[in-house]
Amino acid sequence: MQDTRRDFPVLSELTYLTTASVGLVPRPVLAAAQEFERDLADRGTTGFDEATELAVYDTARNAAARLLNAPAHTIALASSMTEALCQVAWWLKPSAPANVVSTDVDFPSNTYPWFRIAEETGLDVRLVPVADDPLGFDVDRVARYVDHNTAAISISHVQFGTGHRLDLRALADLAHAHDALLIVDATQSAGQVPLDVAADDVDVLITGSYKWLCSTFGAALCYLRPELWERFNPPLVGWRSAPDAYALHAHWQGLAPDARRMEFSTMSYTATVALGAAVDYVLALDPETIRKHNLALTRRLMTGLTGLGAELITPDRDELRAGTVTARFPGHNGEAVAAEIIERGVIVSPRAGGTRYSAHFYNTEDDIDTALNTTADVLAAMRAMRATR
Ligand SMILES: Cc1ncc(COP(=O)(O)O)c(C=O)c1O
Repeated sequence: MQDTRRDFPVLSELTYLTTASVGLVPRPVLAAAQEFERDLADRGTTGFDEATELAVYDTARNAAARLLNAPAHTIALASSMTEALCQVAWWLKPSAPANVVSTDVDFPSNTYPWFRIAEETGLDVRLVPVADDPLGFDVDRVARYVDHNTAAISISHVQFGTGHRLDLRALADLAHAHDALLIVDATQSAGQVPLDVAADDVDVLITGSYKWLCSTFGAALCYLRPELWERFNPPLVGWRSAPDAYALHAHWQGLAPDARRMEFSTMSYTATVALGAAVDYVLALDPETIRKHNLALTRRLMTGLTGLGAELITPDRDELRAGTVTARFPGHNGEAVAAEIIERGVIVSPRAGGTRYSAHFYNTEDDIDTALNTTADVLAAMRAMRATR
């Protein structure tokens, strides 16, 4: 992992521990995107004909198929995780007495679409309480909120604020035992843990591009299990949803015979080129190797933070977490601590009333030790300030 650092020049200037916010883009991925953009700017359609345009998502689609262990025709490209989830949610549009289960610490894009649908249909949106007792959160707690009226469990694989990682197979079994769908937001896990939608029996999996996959903004991947894309009737459609997009018929031609039916418009093609290159970059490093690397670094971080008196809201056990750790500091505002740490050149994030640290393949033990020393300095400075008041 050490030799990847040359692809991230900024790492010689600062300690970057906030991939959970925005991942760094490696030089080869940036180069792929710039080359595509330059060629298009210079040559227009003379270097980018209709057939090329129709196939432009295929590099990312094929890379995603390898990343997720899914057939390429089950994967759609979208502009963002939120857009793809909205497409799925508004298609399903469950109505009373149905419920959808998520958590009260989930990223809002996993709950807002369902709340908006609830205004129209009376859907019951159930948020499993995690915030008040984060360390006791697991699939068993989710199970208490799932019943025979559950239409879907819509949940993050790795939580953005607390760093919990859930067992997807256990969630899928829970959902399917109630004839519900498992809809996974893998934005905080894709690129740092192995994913296998077939082995885990996942129904829908969506991930954005710009965190652990280390790509640019503007693209997302959506897997729809084969029985689902066949039934999927997208609420948003356009020229690219048609079976032959360049037929350009005003009359209804039906929908593309695969997950492409979700791809309704001209999105940032450059972002999909970058995403394809980024997925290949991460796959070459091997997600299982990355998982172990990130767990080892964050283990070192957790031990050090506990030694500094921190309370962690991330579970201790390796099988329940990934590369994100969030710490609260008794007697201090954890988000103010984060701001002071950032001031000193260690880039972390204020989250969940604490400081969120996230370590990826380009981070080293030195980065962790720098973060711990800086955190210790910040806490000491804050205590000294308080004493002089
Ligand atoms: C779990 C999770 N899902 C989704 C997103 C972002 O979604 P989008 O790319 O649609 O803005 C984030 C960003 O922090 C996230 O943490």
